[in-house]
Amino acid sequence: MSSQVTLTLNSAFRVAPVRRRTFGAFVEHLGRCVYTGIHEPDHPSADDQGFRTDVLELTRELGVSSVRYPGGNFVSGYRWEDGVGPLEQRPVRHDLAWHSSDPNTVGLDEFMAWAKKADVEPMYAVNLGTRGVQEALDVLEYANAPAGTALSDQRVANGHADPYKISMWCLGNEMDGPWQIGHKNAEEYARVATESARAMRMEDPNLELIVCGSSNSSMPTFGAWENTVLTEAYEFVDMVSAHAYYSEKDGDQASFLASADDMDYFIDSVVATADHVGAKLKSDKRIMVSFDEWNIWYQHRAESRPPSGDDWPVAPVLLEDIYSAMDAVVFGNLLISLLRHSDRVASASLAQLVNVIAPIMTEPGGRAWKQTTFHPFALTSRHAQGEVLQVNVEAPSFENQRFGTSASADAVATWDEDSGDLTVFVVNRDASGVLDLGVDLSSGGFGDLELVEALTLHHEDPYAANTADAPDTVAPQENASVAMTDGRLSGELPAISWSIIRLTRTTA
Ligand code: AHR
Repeated sequence: MSSQVTLTLNSAFRVAPVRRRTFGAFVEHLGRCVYTGIHEPDHPSADDQGFRTDVLELTRELGVSSVRYPGGNFVSGYRWEDGVGPLEQRPVRHDLAWHSSDPNTVGLDEFMAWAKKADVEPMYAVNLGTRGVQEALDVLEYANAPAGTALSDQRVANGHADPYKISMWCLGNEMDGPWQIGHKNAEEYARVATESARAMRMEDPNLELIVCGSSNSSMPTFGAWENTVLTEAYEFVDMVSAHAYYSEKDGDQASFLASADDMDYFIDSVVATADHVGAKLKSDKRIMVSFDEWNIWYQHRAESRPPSGDDWPVAPVLLEDIYSAMDAVVFGNLLISLLRHSDRVASASLAQLVNVIAPIMTEPGGRAWKQTTFHPFALTSRHAQGEVLQVNVEAPSFENQRFGTSASADAVATWDEDSGDLTVFVVNRDASGVLDLGVDLSSGGFGDLELVEALTLHHEDPYAANTADAPDTVAPQENASVAMTDGRLSGELPAISWSIIRLTRTTA
């Protein structure tokens, strides 16, 4: 059974320019993300600094713009100074967040070297869990101050003469969560975040500072937390964070497929709350959203259970979720939501990059391969260019427990006026059947368009996944049904599918 989905696009429906920072990711000292993920000195592909070049290549292919580091829950117990200086003097510490041991072989300097090779902008999180204002100032001095101070001279002595000029700084991580080391209530966090931000700005007024928002939209303090924290920190910060993870729970596939509805709601609510605070404070300033953790994550599976008892392993297998075709479709839809909100989402970080709920997987000493989610990320990052366009979607709806009803299709587009490239990202998130796509592009102000490419990610088994032995089981395929005739785009979108349709102008 098929039904019709009609998209209305117009070159005037502009949301904001595409922001490269939408395509950020996250590297945490967690499981095998750092050790045997980005860094494995004994690996055949390792370079002279111990970085896996196969992972570096995949990171570049993924199109990652910025990377948040070093956590995550990890950062709330982390001492940054353990990770700098001569390797043989670095201590091994227990990481309480993930019940692991950290040899501190990788720290700030190694991460910055890796970021340069990966061609990504760093985003650094300070510890406001067990630490506070002084830690924030110290790590800022070590990273960014020109030579001539105690800590910047330590950096120079460690072989890094030039300041790193890290611009984006997260003021702690998920401080609203009772699981966080040094968890605080909103008032307590508002104080330490504001005072850290104020002091950091004394060192450098141009930093971009991100205050912790809510760990997800279901937190009991959601909304009130942002209100309290921003009321105090408003003047000193640029962005408020949002985190969200989605998964199919208790076999409720329909609600899972509609997950982007929650992301839309989450972003809209944070923006509304931030603007409410701005109005209260009579401020013209607009606080932006840093969606600095988002992904599919099956949190309740065994893969996410940390070691326990006397077992404190280095780099244990943790959070190594294997993603299905359906996961990739929902994931692609989350990217659609992020792009659609480019007017207020200034930065986003896919959590995480390698091995830990990641698009890139590695075997210690062995292969690296792409998960299903690699593909929508790489294609969106590569082809979302120019301005984001709001797309009006007329589609049937499907019922689900979480949202009541949701539209069967969701879409966003980007339009690059200079090159004439129009790119449509569209999902059929209804399990019940094919959607017949219809888009009248003759009067949208795009000129005459021709089809460049239509790719669809779909698998007849929505639970099919990629493995190291079969890494291409789920990958985008040409969608031969998509055609452009007399200014009208048409095609078939299979049930549970994500598509990218690329068009370009043929006339000026
Ligand atoms: O990304 C995994 C974990 O999820 C992070 O450490 C934490 O910030 C979040 O709860």
